[in-house]
Amino acid sequence: MPPKHLRLFDTTLRDGEQTPGVALTAEDKLHIARQLDRLRVDAIEAGFPVTSKGEMEAVRLIAQAGLKAEVCGLARTTRQDVDAALKCDLRSLHLFIATSDIHLRHKLHLTRGQALRKAVEAVEYAKAHGLQVEFSAEDATRTDIAYLKQVYTAVVEAGADRVNVPDTVGVLTPQQTRRLVGEIAEAVKVPISIHCHNDFGMAVANSLAAVEAGATQVHVTVNGLGERSGNAALEEVAMALYSLYRRRLRLRTRLLYETSRLVSRLTGVPVPPNKPIVGENAFAHESGIHAHGVLSMPLTYEPISPALVGRETTIVAGKHAGVHGVRRRVEELGFKPSEQQAREIVERVKELGDRGKYVTTTDLLAIASAVCGQPLAEERVLELKDLAVVTGTDVIPTASVRLIVKGREYVASETGVGPVDAAIKAIRKITDNLINVRLKEYRLEALTGGSDALAEVVVKIEDAGGKVISARAASSDIVKASVEAMVNGLNRLLQTQTTR
Ligand code: KIV
Ligand code: ZN
Repeated sequence: MPPKHLRLFDTTLRDGEQTPGVALTAEDKLHIARQLDRLRVDAIEAGFPVTSKGEMEAVRLIAQAGLKAEVCGLARTTRQDVDAALKCDLRSLHLFIATSDIHLRHKLHLTRGQALRKAVEAVEYAKAHGLQVEFSAEDATRTDIAYLKQVYTAVVEAGADRVNVPDTVGVLTPQQTRRLVGEIAEAVKVPISIHCHNDFGMAVANSLAAVEAGATQVHVTVNGLGERSGNAALEEVAMALYSLYRRRLRLRTRLLYETSRLVSRLTGVPVPPNKPIVGENAFAHESGIHAHGVLSMPLTYEPISPALVGRETTIVAGKHAGVHGVRRRVEELGFKPSEQQAREIVERVKELGDRGKYVTTTDLLAIASAVCGQPLAEERVLELKDLAVVTGTDVIPTASVRLIVKGREYVASETGVGPVDAAIKAIRKITDNLINVRLKEYRLEALTGGSDALAEVVVKIEDAGGKVISARAASSDIVKASVEAMVNGLNRLLQTQTTR
């Protein structure tokens, strides 16, 4: 029986980790695997056990973590590779051997007959050891189709549970994908999976075409990581299947954005702002016409609700901005401009934009406070005087904070799960009787590279009346940036309370 829902086989921890420059520790891999499991992908390819001791350790950790997803490991068609996977306690194996003439001749130095025998023997060996087997004919899409069908038929007879069709160098078009997958579906009666690379930017379109032709599983990676230009992006495939194809998935799509942020942070690979679904601009609007439309009816310029993927609409101030959007942003920052003041702010924002300047929140704050006559500096209720943290491998992270509140000095210390947590708790200890807030969101981004990178922290906090504001701060010290962002946010909320 084919599965009722389409399966997502996530290979972030295997093909994704093969992204040039990416190497994850066992702890990082386990962290990502747990998040993928919360997201409810169907299968997690945890790694390629035979690669190294560390990789084996990581795959074993994930296999033993009690996850709900099928945990799978990659292996070539050799006993050594299958044994390495067995040592990791895996119950599911992804076996592969190249089948295209170019790979057979120049890489494997095998004849077609020899490769076929190796594939069959490895499947039989893995099945004899109780493993579930997905078989991949590497470079399937440049393989002679009659031979490809012969290989897939033989491995299925040997016991393979699924066959995967890798477009290893990303050369298919959607039309070719449909034809190829359709032919393979005629030849074998086990579930068919698709694995597309993005060399021509076709990975997602080809994966969807494979589904149209009968594939019931798609290989994906978070943020489209993977060899060279990457694999089909999990978030794009999932949302296209869900929203455009109306297919059933097990996925908790609301966790897509936080999963993308986690993977970007741990792999060090930034997400381009214009990346669909998870890029910073995916639900951001600057132009006056768009912002106006979105503010009165989000679906005017948003194809799906951002909440569906764990995001929110953002209105950006800039050269193309209009009064509605800028007013909304300025109100979020704690101002209450009159109609005329809002127009004046827009004029000034456009002037900056015309000079080729990107309008930051700080710029907008300065403009709004000048126009609305709320000089921010003087109105700061809280001022950070000092911050000290103690942390290490064997000590409980502790932070002490010295704050000036309405001219009086207060000191508080707290412990936490890390120095940032401890410092934020210490601030709240001082300010709790002044303002009761909930930290709704905390985001950390490296603005530059290297260990001295400038980090930007964005916090979103909500007061007891439901007013939400976001505030940010940047520093090369993450704890300092976090504390300053929190103090900025509290100041803004306190300002709105006095101007309400
Ligand atoms: O792209 C590819 O061919 C692969 C195989 C290991 C399936 O990643
Ligand atoms: Zn691949």
